[in-house]
Amino acid sequence: MKVNSPHARDVMYHLHPFTNLAQHQESGPDIFRRGEGIYVFDDDGKRYIEGLAGLWCASLGFSEQRLVDAATRQLELLPVYHNFAHKAVEPAINLAEFLVEQAPTPMSKVFFTNSGSEANDTQVKLVWYYNNILGRPQKKKIIARHGAYHGITLAAASLTGMQYAHNAFDVPIKNIIHTDCPHYYHYGEAGENEEEYSSRLATNLENLILEEGPDTIAAFIVEPFLGAGGVIPPPTGYYEKIQPLLERYDILLIVDEVISGFYRTGNMFATEIYGLKPDLITMAKALSAAYQPLGAVMINEKIHQVLIEGSRKFGIFGTGFTYSGHPVPCAVALEAQKIYQERRIGEHVKSVMSCFQHRLHAFADHPLVGETRGLGLIGAVELVEDKATRTNFDPARKVGPWVMNRAQEHGLIIRALINDTLAFCPPLIIDEQQINEMFDCFAKALDDAMHHFAGNGD
Ligand SMILES: Cc1ncc(COP(=O)(O)O)c(C=O)c1O
Repeated sequence: MKVNSPHARDVMYHLHPFTNLAQHQESGPDIFRRGEGIYVFDDDGKRYIEGLAGLWCASLGFSEQRLVDAATRQLELLPVYHNFAHKAVEPAINLAEFLVEQAPTPMSKVFFTNSGSEANDTQVKLVWYYNNILGRPQKKKIIARHGAYHGITLAAASLTGMQYAHNAFDVPIKNIIHTDCPHYYHYGEAGENEEEYSSRLATNLENLILEEGPDTIAAFIVEPFLGAGGVIPPPTGYYEKIQPLLERYDILLIVDEVISGFYRTGNMFATEIYGLKPDLITMAKALSAAYQPLGAVMINEKIHQVLIEGSRKFGIFGTGFTYSGHPVPCAVALEAQKIYQERRIGEHVKSVMSCFQHRLHAFADHPLVGETRGLGLIGAVELVEDKATRTNFDPARKVGPWVMNRAQEHGLIIRALINDTLAFCPPLIIDEQQINEMFDCFAKALDDAMHHFAGNGD
């Protein structure tokens, strides 16, 4: 590394998110310089398929000129303004209207944030505020699930059910608790089918609600399928058994569509696929095709009415960010939504997803693979040491990260998640030939891993 190279300066000055900081001192960064379609190019000009669309977000790839133009137009017209104290900007109005009209279940209002984490933090605040205004200050606990990922601001990190988000950060905060991770492959018991497993999880949830006291439980938050926790679709019958409990005990449902929203599954929202009935919905990432940071919370009229009541009591609704409804990200998001509709991106996803799922599930026969899973244009391959007992490798061997690095050498960027799970979530514009190219690269990395790890214990 040359002393003044970007690599050296990165190590010297830049504290990276979600990075092993000790290792980074040795390895430095991989620097990326430009993008084209589903590909990104590093500073040596080497081309990679971005098999995770960046961080599950670059739905329209890396060179959509219309989004650049939409940002430029807005920057020239009104580059920044706010929405506090009755002020408004048209892109925020138009985007809010669009989202409410397209909502998967009847919704009423949209509140903008800069990220998915901020949106989920806002959800927690809204749920607490709602119950305070309703005069039930004890009804505050929010149940999330082990294995969930909801972000990393204080309340969102608390909702996240992953140890790495909690280690030494003094979270979860008060009033956030967790129930079972709904992963049949690992937690289903011998002789128990998926439906029975779902019944057991529903019973566990009901027992938790009863133990804590139903009058203390305010909300349940779910990703329709777990995303960063391993791309885990729910077991059969799961939501059919869970949702009646929420109704029975007057518990709000927050659906986090940050990864699943905007056609990742072929449908605009995964809420539709699972028949969910959210009171609040979280959105981000593909909302703006990730060309500008943007998140949003959408609430139904039941919640909205209570917020209005709050303002009658307290005056202003005392939450919001300088950049809530910033005109540039909202203009870009509107353009992204227009592109999704004009290019029928949902139909496109439906037309290529069988190829994607077919190639993904073909890895199930590989000696290193325990489970393949996914839906739409998202999926994962989980590696195991022992297929029969479904036992993962010792994490110290870093088998998943090894495969991820090897795939990168072969020109494919993917992500190694917990339990040596490799995740795929390419830009939605990917075609069948590129899907084949992506999985061909992965096949090479997996075969390399088999030779590397065959019995050598390292
Ligand atoms: C389901 C889900 N919710 C929330 C978040 C947090 O979003 P952000 O990273 O924009 O804060 C993520 C990020 O991956 C996510 O996958």
